[in-house]
Amino acid sequence: MTGSTVSIDFKTIDEILESCNYSKQYLIAMLQKVQEVYKYLPEEAMTYIGEKVDGLSPATVYGVATFYAQFSLEPKGKYEIKVCDGTACHVRGSMPVLNAIREKLNLKDNKITTDDGLFSLEIVSCLGACGLAPVCVINEKVYPQMTSDAISIVLDTLLKEERGN
Ligand code: FES
Repeated sequence: MTGSTVSIDFKTIDEILESCNYSKQYLIAMLQKVQEVYKYLPEEAMTYIGEKVDGLSPATVYGVATFYAQFSLEPKGKYEIKVCDGTACHVRGSMPVLNAIREKLNLKDNKITTDDGLFSLEIVSCLGACGLAPVCVINEKVYPQMTSDAISIVLDTLLKEERGN
């Protein structure tokens, strides 16, 4: 697991635990609320929950968090890229698009977030826009009929904006 890049406000975590009655039966709800605040599940927050809630341990909390795909254990980037690899998108070339993103952003070995925290990458199944396949979404914006060249241009544009030129 990678280290956290945010500092944890344990008061916020306490408020979340309080709203769930410090009850282990609400563990999923606790984790969802923590993720809403931090956009991922910081390791310190999971450890804290495991220590504070009766009947849980940090290992249990971590085990549950890794089991559910909805939880991210790594910080998300400023730009959250989702690449659809549902059947329609896969057949129409989502993999070359994914590889182009990985290459451009230097995301090797299934790393999901760039070192500068600007981009994170997630593979998702059907986004419900199969007619536009292959589809990518960056934050809320949908990019239809992507190709490796097209996504490369999109990323270059975002990088230029970030560098202010
Ligand atoms: S398979 Fe990609 S949008 Fe449906």
